[in-house]
Amino acid sequence: ARPKVFVTRRVPARGIDLLKDKFVVSQWDREDRIPPEELLRGVKGVDALFCLLTDKIDKDVLDEAGPQLKTICTMSVGYEHIDISECKKRNIPVGFTPDVLTNATAELTMSLLLATSRRLKEAMTAVEDGSWGTWNPIWMLGHGLDGATVGIVGLGRIGLAVAKCLLSFGVSRIVYSGNSQSKNAQEVNAEFVSFDYLLEHSDFILGCCSLTANNMGLFNAEAFNKMKTSAIFVNTSRGGLVNQDDLYNALKSGKIAGAGLDVTNPEPLPTDSPLLTLSNCLVLPHIGSATEKARSAMSELTARNIIAVFDNKEMPSRLNI
Ligand code: GLV
Ligand code: GLV
Repeated sequence: ARPKVFVTRRVPARGIDLLKDKFVVSQWDREDRIPPEELLRGVKGVDALFCLLTDKIDKDVLDEAGPQLKTICTMSVGYEHIDISECKKRNIPVGFTPDVLTNATAELTMSLLLATSRRLKEAMTAVEDGSWGTWNPIWMLGHGLDGATVGIVGLGRIGLAVAKCLLSFGVSRIVYSGNSQSKNAQEVNAEFVSFDYLLEHSDFILGCCSLTANNMGLFNAEAFNKMKTSAIFVNTSRGGLVNQDDLYNALKSGKIAGAGLDVTNPEPLPTDSPLLTLSNCLVLPHIGSATEKARSAMSELTARNIIAVFDNKEMPSRLNI
């Protein structure tokens, strides 16, 4: 009998087409998030799970699936939604989708940097509400990237791609922090510094690291207090890195100049979030990898990760756990 795979959402067709050749595919074929009870129903008895970052894959889901479950593959680079130690205990290989979304996510990070540094949210509002009086030599001034120091927290694949873009914008210095030095830092002349040094010296601070138990709420009041008052904070990794109440206070009181967030905690961000009342805070709905090309490639890679397991081959992108 052909193995069964459960897909937890409507996804770009590429991956589903590949799976249909070899698997019996069942799917939550909708654009809304699968309810937890439907997830439990869907995984029952399947051999493979194709999931998203919005699915919580915990012990209950694994138990409900049953011992025949051979692999869990997420259509994302982040994997904090999966209970990795439980997968390891059960010898279930986990697949993910790095690399194919790196350029798209770097582009979106640059979009937020440029938009916040040049105050696009305020500027657009001024056009719309009539407060644009005249061309004004001392109005709507921002701090550009030219000559700036940029601090990247987490110089992984995405951080490195952003650094490459930054060089062409004429930044004078790139510093980075993280658990360890990055072997690619030399390529972009990035200097490894302590987190505190990065906070104190950067004009722009970028969150580009994955979320772990150790860096939850890393960007809190203490961190914002160390930043320059002209600093702009951009986060395109995970909302859990940020204490949002502290960020709100830092932006409101002028401790930092602006923020651009593609990720929040929770997602979606409630529409009554105080962050949305601030003209110097630009919030996007987690669209870092949202290009046709990247999402199609992510769907395909997730399918190829699954297929490899059943062909007894190396997964193209297996998480090292
Ligand atoms: C997006 O946030 C991802 O993890 O792929
Ligand atoms: C994080 O996953 C990165 O690729 O930088």
